[in-house]
Amino acid sequence: MPCRVGVLVSGRGSNLQAIIDKSKSREIDAEVVVVLSDDPEAYALQIAKKAGIKAYYIDPETAKPVLVGKAEDNYIDTLKKHKVDLVCLAGFMRIVKEKLISEFEWKIMNIHPALLPSFKGLHAQKKALDYGVRFAGATVHFVTTDVDGGPIILQAVVPVYQDDTEESLSKRILKEEHRIYPEAIDLFSGNRIKIKDNKVLIEGNNGE
Ligand code: GRF
Repeated sequence: MPCRVGVLVSGRGSNLQAIIDKSKSREIDAEVVVVLSDDPEAYALQIAKKAGIKAYYIDPETAKPVLVGKAEDNYIDTLKKHKVDLVCLAGFMRIVKEKLISEFEWKIMNIHPALLPSFKGLHAQKKALDYGVRFAGATVHFVTTDVDGGPIILQAVVPVYQDDTEESLSKRILKEEHRIYPEAIDLFSGNRIKIKDNKVLIEGNNGE
């Protein structure tokens, strides 16, 4: 049985598209069963609908970038109603809080466009450029109450060039995001991810 995935989005949905494509082509053992957005205009909702996936705007009921209260309950209820095994944040622009996290303990992933723990928060690619790092990248991690600080599942590294702009670096990183997010979902689906001492161990990966 493919892993039932619920995806939370706010914007253009390119990671969602990558996950849908690799699920449908059976490159990964997953099925996106529901997509939830805090923005009714998010292009990601259209991507989901075009793919025949249930997609809903759920009012976040606050202008603050968090998911709390009645709105948080609505997200939890909808994810449960669709019997999701895994929740993937894919460009979801809100901080998720204790309640959702404990309802889906070790079952929520996020993708961040930096090599965590460097450059947490918004505008990670710009922060990397401004700092002058030689390598940047993307990280898929479990979501805990420590924002962008949960155990790391997969990372991908890209070079940073001297003439890079925020746009060119973001594009190079995004290509890797589209590769490692589906891969992390497939590892989860295959029950190959264990957590020990707050670190992720991947079964069958002995450092090669
Ligand atoms: C990605 O860069 C992701 O790493 C970050 O938000 C962006 C979402 O892009 N969390 P998309 O909506 O998946 O195209």
